[in-house]
Amino acid sequence: MPMILAANANAQGSHVGEWRHPHAWDRPAANIENAGRLARIAEAGKFDLLFLADGNGVRNQDKPDLFAATSPSDRPGVFEPVTLLSALAMVTRHIGLVATATTTYDEPYHVARRFASLDHISRGRAGWNLVTTSNAGDALNFNHDAHVPREQRYDRAMEFAAVVKGLWDSWADDAFPQDKASGRFLDPAKVHALAHKGTHFQVAGPMNAPRPVQGHCVIFSAGQSEQGKDLAAAHSDCVFAIEGTIERAKLLHADLKGRLARHGRAPEELKILSGVTICAAETDAEAEALMRALDDLVPDAVAFDYLAKMTGLKVQGLPPDGPMPAPEAEHLGPTGIGKAIVAMAVAEGLTLRQTARRILPQMAGNMIVGSARRVADTMEAWYREKACDGFMIAAPVVPTGLERFVRLVVPELQRRGLFRRDYEATTLRGNLGLARPPNPWFA
Ligand SMILES: Cc1cc2nc3c(=O)[nH]c(=O)nc-3n(C[C@H](O)[C@H](O)[C@H](O)COP(=O)(O)O)c2cc1C
Repeated sequence: MPMILAANANAQGSHVGEWRHPHAWDRPAANIENAGRLARIAEAGKFDLLFLADGNGVRNQDKPDLFAATSPSDRPGVFEPVTLLSALAMVTRHIGLVATATTTYDEPYHVARRFASLDHISRGRAGWNLVTTSNAGDALNFNHDAHVPREQRYDRAMEFAAVVKGLWDSWADDAFPQDKASGRFLDPAKVHALAHKGTHFQVAGPMNAPRPVQGHCVIFSAGQSEQGKDLAAAHSDCVFAIEGTIERAKLLHADLKGRLARHGRAPEELKILSGVTICAAETDAEAEALMRALDDLVPDAVAFDYLAKMTGLKVQGLPPDGPMPAPEAEHLGPTGIGKAIVAMAVAEGLTLRQTARRILPQMAGNMIVGSARRVADTMEAWYREKACDGFMIAAPVVPTGLERFVRLVVPELQRRGLFRRDYEATTLRGNLGLARPPNPWFA
């Protein structure tokens, strides 16, 4: 099984200062040409998939410096992800298309239908990143006064995922003969109405779309709490993880894979992708210089606002060259990323300012910076030592960072026998080495 590679498909970039770099795309907000070009670069590099993170709101209005500079994951100039990936499906042929949708502020019928549509439009390349929504403020756009507590969010998410899968199984794979001669558009013996009545949802079904090409679209998640990990064990095909050290990543890998047996699943049925920023260049020194140039584009005030946002800790006004404040369990509760940042600061004895600077590329400061050889060495170690099954990569600056990764690092990984030279299958599931689930109603 080759290493899995996912590309961050945000054409507005990932590093906080990135959009200001001279090589970054001009006018990146809601720019469809850029999105298409990024997708084609990733496909030329034989990436398994493009990944679009998402939220449903405009963040940071309470953090004036950050709001004005627009932080990366929150730049309110992005497209609704399934809409964008439907367009990208028409300019790509092989690469998987993974969009984020929330189980907290959406409905399972809508999600099942949207992703089934994307799967048909792309001929079997759709994936759903299931989130319970990390940004609390999104709640205010969906008839709530406050974010739904995590326990309830995950309780709803478990039922939501089961309903979505049930709706995808509404029809046998051969339910639509569309036979002009006999007048039979569909076979009425090949439909199954879900008739779901649960704690959170009442959904009659069936879904008004044929079964997805992949049977079920590939399900991703990234929850790092106990409930998040249980959800992944029950329902996910892939998990995005953020762990700052290979030791922590190995523990998470073993933990997640160890939870699968309870659900009658084998360890290889769940793939773990480690989130990392990779800055590759011809030489180590060139890559390091690029990272310094990016960091220099971010004023201190913006960097501290960003650190406060990612950890939930009040860092503004504290001595910048002093240590990070003690973690408040309350604030860190909802985000594994915040925990990873604090763990890194403690382990490496970083000051407030050093920690703020370290996380500017995002991915909680997980970074590989250097020549193709240095980058491939680290990736190979993580992969061979079972810290992950692959990587979700942000490559500053877009598009040149991704181009350099494809030109320099991909051939090195191929030479080492770690990565594919061509796509193995026509579907995302096939390329990931995941089986197509049978329909339980029509064996
Ligand atoms: C690589 C990665 C991508 C993520 N993308 C999103 C996203 O697009 N939208 C979102 O609301 N949360 C996203 N998250 C946050 C997770 O869904 C999750 O809420 C977080 O890791 C905290 O875990 P917990 O929900 O179990 O506490 C992402 C996390 C990681 C590690």
